[in-house]
Amino acid sequence: MKKRKVEIAPSILAADFRYLEREVKAAQDGGADWIHCDIMDGVFVPNISFGPMVVEAVKKCITIPLDVHLMIAAPQKYIMQFCDAGADNLTVHADAVESLPDVFDAIRARGVNVGVTVNPDKPISLFEHYLDRVDLVLIMSVYAGFGGQKFMPEVLEKVSALTDRRRLGDLAFSIEIDGGINAETAARCIDAGVDILVSGSCIFGSSNYRSTIEHLRNAGKDRLS
Ligand code: DX5
Ligand code: ZN
Repeated sequence: MKKRKVEIAPSILAADFRYLEREVKAAQDGGADWIHCDIMDGVFVPNISFGPMVVEAVKKCITIPLDVHLMIAAPQKYIMQFCDAGADNLTVHADAVESLPDVFDAIRARGVNVGVTVNPDKPISLFEHYLDRVDLVLIMSVYAGFGGQKFMPEVLEKVSALTDRRRLGDLAFSIEIDGGINAETAARCIDAGVDILVSGSCIFGSSNYRSTIEHLRNAGKDRLS
């Protein structure tokens, strides 16, 4: 039995945008594995964040992978822009696209890892036929649209179902969770089999990113897999 390495993806939605370069570098220097960018269009979700120009700017500041979460309507129209901006992973909401296979192919054709997600009230059956075609499944543990919301523990059932599917199907996708992650909820996620924890306010709202990142990573440190 070996210890699982849990990865941490700080979401810059909670960063101080006056000092974005300093913020993302501090997260990277603090041990972040990925930087998570939340793209909101005011249509698919009731909030607007930022677009490919900011993604491109962040990319220039870091050497760790850039994890881009598209919360936008018709994401197929913007795949090229976000891939060109430097996304290493590009995740789409399954219910925002007409043809998942076409979107997955378009992302992969640009050499970018493919991610899929759904909101807490949507079933994983929306994408489970394509689990062999994705690198990443993002489980939303809050409704997409805003940082700082409360973790919804019922979504951990989806994590368990996905770990079963992965094991039984000999599949290789990673499981990421996003929303309301703190030391307490992180431990529950790690227990359930999550590989990557996205965290915005818990990290960027803390005074020491390094110790917060370590704290989240080790939240389930006694668990073995
Ligand atoms: C929610 C976003 C999250 C958000 C997480 O729509 O997808 O990535 O930034 O923020 P916290 O960690 O504050 O819940
Ligand atoms: Zn996100």
